[in-house]
Parts: sequence; C-alpha cells; structure tokens
Amino acid sequence: MKNNLHQEFIKIFNKEADNAYFSPGRVNLIGEHIDYNGGLVMPCAITFGTYLLTSPNEDGIFRFRSLNFSEQLDIPLQLNYEKTGENWFNFPIGVIDRFVKDGHPVKGLDMLFYGDIPIGSGLSSSASIEVVTSYALNDLFNSGYSKLDLVKLSKDVENNFIGVNCGIMDQFAVAFGEKNKALMLNCDTLDYEAVDSNLGEYVLAIINTNKPRKLAESKYNERVQECQTALAELQQQLDIKYLCEINSATFEQYKYLITEPVVLKRAKHVIEENDRVKLAAKALAANNLAEFGKLMYASHDSLRDLYEVSGIELDTVAEYSKTNPDVAGARMTGAGFGGCAIALVKGDAFEKFSEEVTEYYTQKIGYAPSVYSSLIGDGVGVLASVLN
Ligand code: GLA
Repeated sequence: MKNNLHQEFIKIFNKEADNAYFSPGRVNLIGEHIDYNGGLVMPCAITFGTYLLTSPNEDGIFRFRSLNFSEQLDIPLQLNYEKTGENWFNFPIGVIDRFVKDGHPVKGLDMLFYGDIPIGSGLSSSASIEVVTSYALNDLFNSGYSKLDLVKLSKDVENNFIGVNCGIMDQFAVAFGEKNKALMLNCDTLDYEAVDSNLGEYVLAIINTNKPRKLAESKYNERVQECQTALAELQQQLDIKYLCEINSATFEQYKYLITEPVVLKRAKHVIEENDRVKLAAKALAANNLAEFGKLMYASHDSLRDLYEVSGIELDTVAEYSKTNPDVAGARMTGAGFGGCAIALVKGDAFEKFSEEVTEYYTQKIGYAPSVYSSLIGDGVGVLASVLN
C-alpha cells in the first residue's frame, strides 16, 4: 500500500498530490506513566507511521480520506470544529481547530492519510496523525510554529479536543525522533538528548498483543487523577510541582501523607520508575544491556503490580521472555491495557524468539500476537519520494 499512495490519491481526487509528509509512531524503552508526572522518559521513533498526501483546493473545503478507514468527511472552513463520535478524522480536525483558533489562516485542502502503525496498539498512532497534520499545515500555510510549538499544539488537541489527559512524550518522540537514537527527555523542562540506542548484539522486538484496548482512555485519565491526588497530599509537606521531583528515599520518608492505599501504589510506581530511567540511561551509556534488560523487567512488574495497567496478555509476553536466555529484558510499552510489549532479543535468536513467543502466547491467550523486529527511525518530515 505504502508504494501506491500517490496512485491512490489520484484515484480518489482525480488530480496529483503536491506534498507528502510522514510522522512515525514510537516505542518507549523505559519510563512509563512518567511524562505527566514531570520525570524522565526514553522513547524512540519507529519506522511505522502515518503518511499524509495533500493538494490545496479552491473550494474552501477540507476533504479527509483514509486508506485505513471507510469513514470520510468533507467540511468547509469554519471558526469552530467539534469532535464527532470516535471517528479517525477527529485528530486532524482537532489540529485544524487549533490553527484556526490561534488565528493562523488555512485554506481548503484535499488530504489522504495512510498509517501502517497497528491502530490502538500503544505505538502512538494518535500522536502520529496529530503531528503529521500539524507539521503539514504549518508547512503549507507558513504558520510559523516551531517544531516544539507543534508538539505542544498536538498534545493540546489530544487533551482538550479528544479528551485524553496524556503527557507530552508521544508527540515529542514522533516529532523529534532520530534514526538509531533514543531520546532522553525531561518532561518537566523539555530538555532532551538524543543518545545512541546502541543495542550491540540485540535487536528491539515489538510484540503486539492484538488485544483490543477497551476502557483505555477512561482508565488512563483515572491514573492521571490518582497521581494528582498523591501529589496534592505530598505537597502538604513538600514544595514540589511534580511527583518526579522526589526520589524513592524521599518518598519513603513522606509517603505517610498519602491516605489511600491505591494512590500510594500509583505514586510508588511513578517515583521508582523515574529512578529506574536514570539507572537505565547509565546502563545504556555503558553498553550494559544485561542491566538495561533487568530494569525493563522491573518496570514491567511495577506497571503490573503497582500501577495496574498491564493485563494477562502483556504479562504473558513478559513471562515467556524471562524463560528465554536470549532475551535481556521485556516490558509493556505505552499506556498499557493491552497494546504492545517490547523485548531486547539477541539478533541471531530473533526468529526463534518470534516463533516461541507466538506459540506460548497463543496457547495461553487463544489468539496469536504479531511480532516485529523494530527499526528506530526519524521524526516527522517531508517525504517527497512518495510523489515520484
Ligand atoms: C500514553 C500517553 C503518554 C504516556 C504513556 C505512558 O502513550 O499518550 O503521554 O503517558 O501513555 O507512559
């Protein structure tokens, strides 16, 4: 499909596209449910993503078409847009709404989207479509936003138009990702460093549980709320803006302030996970993949037991991985509640891993996962080659 995008555009719109863009999805190596708590995360952009081909029109209409979904929409330029149901085009419409409300002139546009990120798999298909749209509009209409502005704008769409109170990690990673690099991002200051994701003899496997994510959004917002409750209680004694401003030692000293046992578990995960990211960064810099892998397992266990966002499907992948000596570590990645796990697997043992995890998982869960060997790619950009 990816190779025929321009042909498809011509078939749908009876004209050629003038511009093409691509925004990747992401995996997060470690640092989960940390971004909205102001801590450190370590995401990478992946080579799966969202393609957008565009051509301006003189009709003052936005035409949305997708090769993934049959729903389509033609909507005139207006001052205010509303979210409609659960349609895929809510994401790009939310972006247009923000451009318009920020006073940036836009014009009619014919748009064809295609994504090869498995939808709802926790690889940030939504950040990818938001960022590819905002990048394209900024480029086409010379709106003058910086890349960081586009990241913030896209996150704002997710928070206020779509209604998911996510942090900034996904939009940041898909915009600023670099080939073969992991981003060490401080989600409070937004300072980041692109570090070599030198995996040595290992490759990064992505295991999609193929579990349809249900209630993911409401459960996600519930976790955000629980963290805010923990923060407010700690603030009675501590002068902090985010949970991640304290380490585990300080947390142990002040955790008595947190009244609800469930809220205590959530905060413990966040603070210990943030400490783990620091250790993981050191392990990666020292090429100590064995240590990095242990931290991945510890992260998974904490997400399962303390944060409770895992599930039997993701746990089964981690459980199998622990039995395979060619795997350094594995964990769920992204929001959880289904979606994808990642594993660090010895390159020459990848095929065997893929077969065995598929068999183990299928026996236990009743359907097969999808297993990919992932490539770490670049962030959002123009993709002229699609138009040739
Ligand atoms: C989702 C959100 C991110 C982040 C992760 C969990 O992907 O969009 O902001 O919170 O979950 O780490």
